[in-house]
Amino acid sequence: MKSLLFVCLGNICRSPTAQAVFDHKLAQADIRLLTDSAGTGDWHIGRPPDPRSQAFARAWGVDISAQRARRICADDFDRFDRIYAMDRSNLADIVALARPGCRARIDLVMSLAPEYGVEEVPDPYYGGDTGFQRVIDMLSAAADRLIEELQQTQR
Ligand code: 4NP
Repeated sequence: MKSLLFVCLGNICRSPTAQAVFDHKLAQADIRLLTDSAGTGDWHIGRPPDPRSQAFARAWGVDISAQRARRICADDFDRFDRIYAMDRSNLADIVALARPGCRARIDLVMSLAPEYGVEEVPDPYYGGDTGFQRVIDMLSAAADRLIEELQQTQR
C-alpha cells in the first residue's frame, strides 16, 4: 500500500484536513505514503481550504493553507491504492465514477476506526466551529488505526 486519496464534496474542508492529519501522523510514525485530496464537486476548484478549516488545522499543528481544491478524475482510480470518502454521499459519487477493476479500493474513511461508532465525517461547511474540530478528532482516530494496521502488516 503506497498511496491514499481523501475525497469529500468541496475539497475545501474535510479532505484537505484529512490529508494533513494523515500526513502528520504518518510522518510521526516514520511511514512514507503518497497522499492527496480531491472533491466530487467543482465549485471550489483552485481555491485554498475554508478559513475555518485552516484555523482549526493550524491550532492542531498543521498548515493546510497551500492546498488547492481539485476535482476527482479518472486517473485517480489507478494512481491511488485506496480512496477514502468522508460520507456515504461522497462514496456513492466516487463509486459511480469508478471503472470496474480499477486499482483503488474505495471505502469510507471511518471504516478504519469502527470503534469510533460513527460511519460518516459530517460536512462542517454550514455549521459552527465544533464541526471543524470534530472533523479533526475523527480523522485523527482513523489515522491512528491505519498506522496500527500498517505497523502490524510490516511485522
Ligand atoms: P467539504 O465541505 O466537502 O468538506 O469540502 C463543503 C464545502 C463546500 C460545500 C459543501 C461542502 N459547498 O456546497 O460549497
